[in-house]
Amino acid sequence: MSDQDGNLKGILVGCGFMGGMHAQIYNILEGVDLVAAVDKRVEESQEKLDRLGCQAKVYATLDEAMEQAQCDFVDVCLPTHLHEAFSIKALDAGKALFCEKPLALTGEKADRIIEAAKRNDAIAQVGHCLRFWPEYQKLMEYHSSGEGGKLLSLSFVRRGARPNFGIDDWFNDESLSGGAALDLHIHDSDIMLAMLGQPKAIHSKVTRDYSGPSHIYSLFEYDSLIVSSEGGFNYPAKWGFQMAFQAVFEKAVLDFDSTNGKGLIICQGDEEPAQMEVPKPDTGSSQSGEGNVSDLGGYFNELQYFTNCLKTGNKPEVATLEEARDAVSMALREVAIADGKSG
Ligand SMILES: NC(=O)c1ccc[n+]([C@@H]2O[C@H](COP(=O)([O-])OP(=O)(O)OC[C@H]3O[C@@H](n4cnc5c(N)ncnc54)[C@H](O)[C@@H]3O)[C@@H](O)[C@H]2O)c1
Repeated sequence: MSDQDGNLKGILVGCGFMGGMHAQIYNILEGVDLVAAVDKRVEESQEKLDRLGCQAKVYATLDEAMEQAQCDFVDVCLPTHLHEAFSIKALDAGKALFCEKPLALTGEKADRIIEAAKRNDAIAQVGHCLRFWPEYQKLMEYHSSGEGGKLLSLSFVRRGARPNFGIDDWFNDESLSGGAALDLHIHDSDIMLAMLGQPKAIHSKVTRDYSGPSHIYSLFEYDSLIVSSEGGFNYPAKWGFQMAFQAVFEKAVLDFDSTNGKGLIICQGDEEPAQMEVPKPDTGSSQSGEGNVSDLGGYFNELQYFTNCLKTGNKPEVATLEEARDAVSMALREVAIADGKSG
């Protein structure tokens, strides 16, 4: 279903940090209209969307929004413990689904979303944005090209200031967010699974505090390769955010660190380290309400891919519900191993 212009119509659920990001992207995505939004903080959210130049009216519930506005898809940007109920509601109403990561708090909850998508033959995708992040895409492409020879070791880092902005401090409640392991580190677990499949063995340790597993350190053994992956959000408010990887191949090293401004660096043979070209998101010269949208990187790319799938009727092949379920299961397995359970 699309409107008279042939545009796709979407309802955004959750107008917080991520919802605001998505709203800015829908403002500039060709052929896509945000026709309504949902948030329990109706007034505050309406002011925010207005400020961002978004036409959508905010409702208090998804039922009300779906009654008032015809839509093709629902985009769930709610705290993680709400993903299952809202995703299933949207799917059973016959809508396509974009759901933020982590898909759910457990593999079983994720499976129930998968079942709902199957019974409705729905198009669905999860916000595993690293799959669409140019530097990470380049890493995966370089690895599968075989150009650098065998991959010998791979390390991922994801660290951030404690997220204190969530309503009712939900990020810092393990029963609502899963803590840093599920909320933050899962991005790297997902990329690792996409690149290399399941490891042969896992070793993990976590730092725990009132928010649950607030920093996780994992080592993964593959046949002839070790992966280290570390992520935590117990840093002071002004510390900022860092995501980084280093991939050591037989003939080259690829380095990326979001904090050094150097982009993706390759060093091979006797050559000086050089910047690798990565594709910029195809946003034209668009400006959104709060800055240049090309800064939105993988977030733009993932929603463009999702809405293109809807336009063509093809099911997404990247960041699928099943892959997102596997990432949830992996992050939880790492925590269980760290906690001395079998995993
Ligand atoms: N892909 C990424 O890089 C990335 C980054 C940040 C967050 N996330 C994910 O996005 C999701 C949302 O995170 P956020 O940072 O936007 O959180 P947030 O706390 O900023 O926003 C959540 C919004 O949901 C609303 N809400 C809460 N309960 C509600 C209910 N019952 N009905 C309607 N509205 C309700 C809140 O009022 C708030 O506006 C989480 O799953 C998080 O893990 C993903």
